[in-house]
Amino acid sequence: MLITSTQRPLYVKQLFDRDSCTYTYLLGDPKTHEGAIIDAVKEHLQRDLQYIEELGIELLYIFETHIHADHITSAGLIRQKTGAQIVYSQAAAVKSIDIGLKEGDELPIGGHHIRAINTPGHTHGCMSFYVDGMVFTGDCLLIRGCGRTDFQEGNSGDLYNSITEKLFSLADETVIYPGHDYNGKTSSTIAEEKQWNPRVGQKKSFDDFLQIMSNLNLDIPKKINEAVPANTNCGINFNPDAYIHNDFSMNALYSVWLKENSNTLIIDNRTKEEYSEGHIPRSHNIPFGTESQHLEELKGFNHIYIYCHSGRRAQTALTNLSIMGLDNITCVSHSGLPEWIAMKYPIER
Ligand SMILES: [Fe+2]
Repeated sequence: MLITSTQRPLYVKQLFDRDSCTYTYLLGDPKTHEGAIIDAVKEHLQRDLQYIEELGIELLYIFETHIHADHITSAGLIRQKTGAQIVYSQAAAVKSIDIGLKEGDELPIGGHHIRAINTPGHTHGCMSFYVDGMVFTGDCLLIRGCGRTDFQEGNSGDLYNSITEKLFSLADETVIYPGHDYNGKTSSTIAEEKQWNPRVGQKKSFDDFLQIMSNLNLDIPKKINEAVPANTNCGINFNPDAYIHNDFSMNALYSVWLKENSNTLIIDNRTKEEYSEGHIPRSHNIPFGTESQHLEELKGFNHIYIYCHSGRRAQTALTNLSIMGLDNITCVSHSGLPEWIAMKYPIER
């Protein structure tokens, strides 16, 4: 939407969380003082509420670009304090939100309209927000980078299309405000990223992008097992103990394995290649990140055990499946197949 010559654009205050390198944005209409906050972080609740008060913002909306894995949102707490409405993409599986947006939906702030752009890829439910020549891209398009796609139903092909077909069709001068930056950069423009983004700039091909994304080899975010379940409930009323079962060893898994119970499933959560090099006999390979595709078949088992190489992927898979409603899962979270091999238990190749 164009702003009229008599209308001043929304002002933007860019705030930072040093721990997760997350940007939070406070938007306000200079005339009506109506406003919104985007991607607020729980640890900064007091800072953000103080700004809202000092700037005289009447907070209407709490936008979340997606279900974050690296920090817990303060959306639920801000709603309790201000009465503002929590807004997510309809495609994000979050409980107790107030407004679920779909592509092209608009929400008014003063005389301005915030427009929803579906930008899946980093997660299935990622959404960008456009207003007054600015776009808040969350973890879809970052400055000289983009969000990762290796968990939370991430999909590199979707991310490529979201960036090149949706965001790059905005005017070149559109200012990009990303969800993170790890090197102190604060904003960019569509023209800059079309030219200089090393992953998608200079008309990088779809196949080249998939290749880049499959070779990132990033560590799993430290807080993912706490943050994702919390954020699917707007960051409130979350009991992490309900999801995290940390004390299962490969030795204990061996006892389970010996019983050969047909109602019990052992999942090898590593890649196909790792699985083919050697795995626990009768284990079923469900590579990390694809668990949701197997939800229906997993519901048929009384109990599910998950292992990987070190325990990190298995723990995250457990979290992902737990928030999808499976509560009969145990994971080997502090070790993995090397321990099984060291104990000379059977291996199948
Ligand atoms: Fe993210």
